[in-house]
Amino acid sequence: MATPGILAALLAAAVLVACPTPATANLRAPPNSKLPVEAWLTTAQLISHWGYPSETHTVRTEDGFFIEVHRIAGGRGQFDKPAKKRAPVLFAHGFGATSECMVLRANNSLSFMMADAGLDVWLGNTRGSFYGKKHESLSPSDAKFWDYSWHENGVYDMRAIVDYIIEVTKEPSVMVVGHSMGSTSLYALLSERPDYNDKIRAGFLLAPAVYFFNLRGTFAQGKKQAPWAPRAIRQLRAENPFTKAPYPQLCYKPNGIIINPGCITFFAQAQGPFYNSNNNGYLAILLRHWPGGTSIGQLNHFIQLIVTGLGFRKYDYGPEKNRARYGVSYPPAYNISNVRAPMFIFYCENDYQAHYKDIKRLAADTPGTAGLFLTPAKTFNHLDIMYEEDAAELIYKRLIEQALKYNSS
Ligand SMILES: *[C@@H]1O[C@H](CO)[C@@H](O)[C@H](O)[C@H]1NC(C)=O
Ligand SMILES: *[C@@H]1O[C@H](CO)[C@@H](O)[C@H](O)[C@H]1NC(C)=O
Repeated sequence: MATPGILAALLAAAVLVACPTPATANLRAPPNSKLPVEAWLTTAQLISHWGYPSETHTVRTEDGFFIEVHRIAGGRGQFDKPAKKRAPVLFAHGFGATSECMVLRANNSLSFMMADAGLDVWLGNTRGSFYGKKHESLSPSDAKFWDYSWHENGVYDMRAIVDYIIEVTKEPSVMVVGHSMGSTSLYALLSERPDYNDKIRAGFLLAPAVYFFNLRGTFAQGKKQAPWAPRAIRQLRAENPFTKAPYPQLCYKPNGIIINPGCITFFAQAQGPFYNSNNNGYLAILLRHWPGGTSIGQLNHFIQLIVTGLGFRKYDYGPEKNRARYGVSYPPAYNISNVRAPMFIFYCENDYQAHYKDIKRLAADTPGTAGLFLTPAKTFNHLDIMYEEDAAELIYKRLIEQALKYNSS
């Protein structure tokens, strides 16, 4: 099968996703479902299901969004208020994910491992996802609701969540775990608001999606075949129709667990080869929760960086709007020299999106770089680093060792 271009891939997804699924993962399992119960639960239900204390908070952003944030309020079975102070850690999910994707397994999920290690784990969400569908005056049927990219996810959503956690916990700063786009948003926030370096105690970046000079796979093909794509859709500040609902229709029967091979190929061509090539990995459960709602702007902002090859830059609205917004006709670069909080960067050699050469360059350009960790496994792709069971041994134990050094403020 030839590697499809971006648009071909999206069209294929559109056709296959055409059977509508309600935009929430909180569905009742069909009676003949072979999937385990965690395929069907919300974030709060998942945290409780695995035996951890759960809290749900609502955070208001400066521009009027109300975003649900979930907290793992203690280690497993620790339902009393913890006696010891615990440093807060905010999880920032990747493109199309939600906090649900962070708690799909118990003790080998990074979130629960951190909670068991004595950290105060908060699971963020982005506007537009299942948990970010409320706004004080806009509704998801308004185009203006969707007028954002991961820039706003960092500069508004993440910033509001960081301030909220600091207010509730009375701690001076938080750690951030960012998978892929979660790291992109953290970089946007710290570049734009360097004052927030004091509020970020440390960043743990899993396959950060910031530089795209050496991309492989679907998106590299798309760059060659459809270099006009980002311009063609840059004014479409709308909901991304391909990410409204999870992908079971694309990938497997609702009562099954065997992923169809075309679906695995679709992901492997975009993200790199999977670590577990048997058809029994995390994908069947993840795809009951992912994707959970994104804007076209989030995807297009990435495509702009990929196609122009000009580094980490702000959204390109076109010359006229750029001049109104930025004072210049071309989107300015984010100032990565402002990212000074300590950053621990984790990457994989076979990740097609966060290429190891780009990661090394990012580490060199980031003043805060405090550690660079290559995954000691030959094949580990852009998703495996967050979702693969064996990441617990291969990555998370090393990550938590670093995080615990920041446990006292
Ligand atoms: C998770 O729990 C299982 C069963 O109790 C255990 O075998 C495994 O080592 C644990 N994994 C981690 C990362 O602690
Ligand atoms: C970028 O940030 C650095 C450090 O904060 C500053 O010295 C430099 O002038 C900034 N560059 C631009 C182009 O604004």
